[in-house]
Order: sequence, then C-alpha cells, then structure tokens
Amino acid sequence: MQDFTDKVALITGGASGVGRSLAFALGRRGAKIAVGDVDRKAMAAVEADLAAEGIDALVDFCDVTSVDSLQVLGDRAEAELGGLDLVFANAGIGAGEAGAMWEYSEKDWQWCLEVNVWGVINTIRALMPRLVARGQEAHFVITGSGNGAMVILPDAPIYTASKAAVHAITENLHYQLQAAGSPVKVSALFPGPYVVDTGLFNSGRVRPEALKKESEGNESGINSVDDMKALAEQYGIELKVTHPDEVAAMAVEGLENDAFWLLRTTPETDAKIRARADMILNRDTPQPASLG
Ligand SMILES: NC(=O)c1ccc[n+]([C@@H]2O[C@H](COP(=O)([O-])OP(=O)(O)OC[C@H]3O[C@@H](n4cnc5c(N)ncnc54)[C@H](O)[C@@H]3O)[C@@H](O)[C@H]2O)c1
Repeated sequence: MQDFTDKVALITGGASGVGRSLAFALGRRGAKIAVGDVDRKAMAAVEADLAAEGIDALVDFCDVTSVDSLQVLGDRAEAELGGLDLVFANAGIGAGEAGAMWEYSEKDWQWCLEVNVWGVINTIRALMPRLVARGQEAHFVITGSGNGAMVILPDAPIYTASKAAVHAITENLHYQLQAAGSPVKVSALFPGPYVVDTGLFNSGRVRPEALKKESEGNESGINSVDDMKALAEQYGIELKVTHPDEVAAMAVEGLENDAFWLLRTTPETDAKIRARADMILNRDTPQPASLG
C-alpha cells in the first residue's frame, strides 16, 4: 500500500506503546484511525493527542477477549470513518510470570492466552470477513514477538507460548489468503530490534478483576523497561531499548512494500535464529538463549 490518505486503520491495543505509535504514524500520513483498548485513562490521552494533531480518529472501549466487542468497534469504525483498509491485531499483555511454570496459577495462563491468542483469533473472526468482502487491497497486521516465533526465551513461558501460537496463526492466515488469491495481505509485526519501551511490562494495570493474581509468589518484579535496565546492569549488561515510534515507522515502511515480515533484527538476533535452526537440524539438546 503506497498511499495511506483516507485509508481507515483499526488498531487494537492502540492506547499505548506500539499501537499508539502506529495510530500517529498512519494518522500523519492521512489515514483515519479507530483505536480500541481497555485502558480508559490511556484512551482519553490518545484521543486528546490525536485530536490535537488534527487526525481524524475515534477511540472506543474494545476488549479483544470478546468477539462481540470487536464487532461493535468494527461497526462503529465503518459507520463513522468508512470501510476498513488496515487492521492491526496488536493488543497484548505480558503475564509478568517468574519461577517454575508448574506453579503458575491457571489464571496467569488464562489471562495471557485470552488476550494474546484469543484476542488475535477474535480479531480475525470479527474483522477479516469485512476486509475479504470488500475485495480490495487491504492489510491485516498481527503483532507477534520474536520470543515465541523465532526463539524460546526461558524467562516468560506463558508469553512465549502465546506468541508461538500467534505466529502459527499469522503464517497460516497468510497462506490461506494467498491461496484464495485475495488482495488482502497479512503481515507479521515484530516490535524491536531491542526491547521496546512500552507499558507491556506493567500489563497488570489492565488485568481483569476476575483473573487477578492468586498468589504473590511467582512475580518477576519487572514492571518497566527501567526495571529491566537495572536488572541487566547487575549482570554488567547495558540493555538497548527501541522507541515504539521506530517500530511504527518500520511497520509503515514494510506495508508500503507489501512485506510479510515487519521485522528489524541485529546481527546478534540473526545469529540466535540461525543457532536455533542449526540446533534442530543437528538434534542438539537446547541450551537457553539469553535476553542480551
Ligand atoms: N514491548 C516490547 O518489547 C514488545 C516486543 C515484542 C512484541 N510486543 C507486542 O507488542 C504489542 C503491543 O504491546 P506494547 O509493547 O505496545 O505494550 P503496551 O502495554 O504499551 O500496549 C498494549 C495495549 O494493549 C491494551 N490491552 C491489554 N489488554 C487488552 C484487551 N483485552 N483488549 C484490548 N486492549 C488490550 C493495553 O491497555 C495497552 O494499551 C503486544 O502484542 C506485545 O506482545 C512488544
């Protein structure tokens, strides 16, 4: 897609981090923006900031764990802004887990899989039929993570499992639309190349009451990128950080080229991907990859 003028982009989890930056990056290129989120405070802020820039946008409550909630946002976006041209299944949370995975509560698993995996499934079920029915060029972008899609980092098993599933769904969705000869293109967005400074590490702020943590035992103690930096420093590592605006710029550039992989890596991450492929091909016993 070369021209975003007057295109309608719906972004889940668009009130913070990567989603918020996408809203501005596309809005500044003339797109009309529909943001869905569950964080009312952040929603009010993004609504005011988009209006201040003169971006044509609507911001509404939309919980991706409910397909009905996505249908309502889709209906409102179509009625007020026009038919959807771009959908970003971007909402996601970090479960903040730590310790032995057999000791995590069911609610920790449930919350993360409901938002990260069912959120993507629900977004596909609610909104993909609309893009397909229009029969014109459109993009469906799913935010995954290299942790799960490409490597298995040992520190966040629930999150890793969710993003492994998300990538399988994304790639299959691409194959199916390609096989159908559809003008709707699927892209896999990987925020990075370094840890992206967003609210992801403080996702507990939007954790529903019904799924609240049952014990204080298995918490990582990491609630922000600054906490991660401090932890890395203890091991003599300087943590490199990416701003979400850089992720949005990379995504927009990739969409201009109809790219499937919206992915920026470093030589170090490329080496990890190669090492993992070699490990499988050589039947080597897995050794944990590091965050560095
Ligand atoms: N930050 C990183 O380093 C990083 C790396 C790889 C992938 N990601 C992915 O990027 C995506 C965006 O996350 P972010 O890093 O910008 O974090 P973020 O917390 O800043 O933004 C995520 C948004 O999703 C919203 N959200 C949470 N639960 C929701 C629900 N049930 N329904 C609708 N919205 C909901 C939150 O309120 C928040 O506004 C996620 O899918 C995340 O897994 C982030």
